[in-house]
Parts: sequence; C-alpha cells; structure tokens
Amino acid sequence: MLITIPSVLSKDEVNQVRAHLDAADWEDGSTTAGPQSIEVKRNQQLPAASDAAQTLGKFILQKLTADPLFISAALPARILPPMFNKYEQAETFGSHIDNAIRVNPLTQERLRTDLSMTLFLSAPEDYDGGELVIEDHYGTQTVKLPAGDMILYPATSLHEVTPVTRGARVSSFFWLQSMIRSDAHRRILFDLDQSIQSLSTTIGSNATETVRLTGIYHNLIRTWAET
Ligand code: NI
Repeated sequence: MLITIPSVLSKDEVNQVRAHLDAADWEDGSTTAGPQSIEVKRNQQLPAASDAAQTLGKFILQKLTADPLFISAALPARILPPMFNKYEQAETFGSHIDNAIRVNPLTQERLRTDLSMTLFLSAPEDYDGGELVIEDHYGTQTVKLPAGDMILYPATSLHEVTPVTRGARVSSFFWLQSMIRSDAHRRILFDLDQSIQSLSTTIGSNATETVRLTGIYHNLIRTWAET
C-alpha cells in the first residue's frame, strides 16, 4: 500500500532544510548506482558522509519517528539514514527496483529494505515533471506531493522519477526494515490501529470493545513481528 504522511516537516522547517541543501556541494548520483540502475539514473546526490547530509538526516528522523501515522503504517525496526537527491534539466531515474539489502554507512549494519520513503522538499509549482511513478497492485500511481509531505511505499515496487523539464526537484529518500515483513500483514495492522484510534475518540479508550481490539492488535504483532 502507498501511504502519504502529511506535514512531516512544516513550511518553516522545509525552508531551513532547503537553505542548507541549496548551499551544499552535490555529486553525480551515478557514484552510488548499481550495475543495472547506472544505465537509467541521472541525478545529483548529497554525499552520505557530508555534515549536511548527516545533520539534516537526523533532524528528519527525529520528526518522523515522533509521527504516530508513520509509526502505525511502517512499524519500523531499523531506519537507514536519509539521503538527498536533486533533479534538474532533464535529469531522471528510469524504472527500477531498489536493492533488497543495504548497509547503513554509519554503523555498517545490514538491513532489508521493506519500505521506501520519499520526502518532498520542493513545492510542486516550482518544477515540471519529476513525478514519482510507482507500480502498485492497483495500477500505476503518480506521486507529486507538497513540500514537507512524505510517501511511504513497498520497496518491492518498480518505480521511476520522470524527467524534470523546469526548475529543480529536491527530496530526501531512504528505506527501512519493518518489524512486520509482509505488506499484507502490515496493512491489516494499520487498518486495525486506525480503527482503534477512531474508537478511542468515539466510545473511549477504556471501553470494553476498544480494550479487546487493542489486545488483538498486540497479539497480532506478537505473532508476526521480528524484532
Ligand atoms: Ni529507487
């Protein structure tokens, strides 16, 4: 499932992050491409080891892990440090699937990429093209979100970024390993959690039915989770 997490960053926070990014030194994105994706990847990236990437990445993770909708949808076990890319002047990233296993460059820890994230850092009116196109079970989804919003999607999906024909598209992109490996199980837990949240406001979090459903939620996590 594709889930939009709105307002991970406020407009002010986007402006602050962009001020740092716009002053940073970018490198050719092909330096980190694998043998297949090097054929289709034309963009710019912030070096992962740079101060800017590390400081801004930590800030984004702080905001994200405090977001209840993100936690409910992703149930993250481990999150890779956010990376940053920029597309301008016909730059593009053709159709591909991201690597299944990635190494955290800061800790050398290996993790399985269950979910991919793109946090948009350019306002949609500031560029043309640059849509994130994701092949989903339900068809092809075209994603272009307001600056500060994030899309969360299964890393098993074929996806591409269409050529930018005007302006610049800046974003942060990264991956996580979920405690729940199966996308279908994660979907059930997300729907159940959202229902429990809504029941908590209508009939109360201590109502018998809410307590029972909360118990079911935790017991399903106990059955499916890898920690
Ligand atoms: Ni990708």
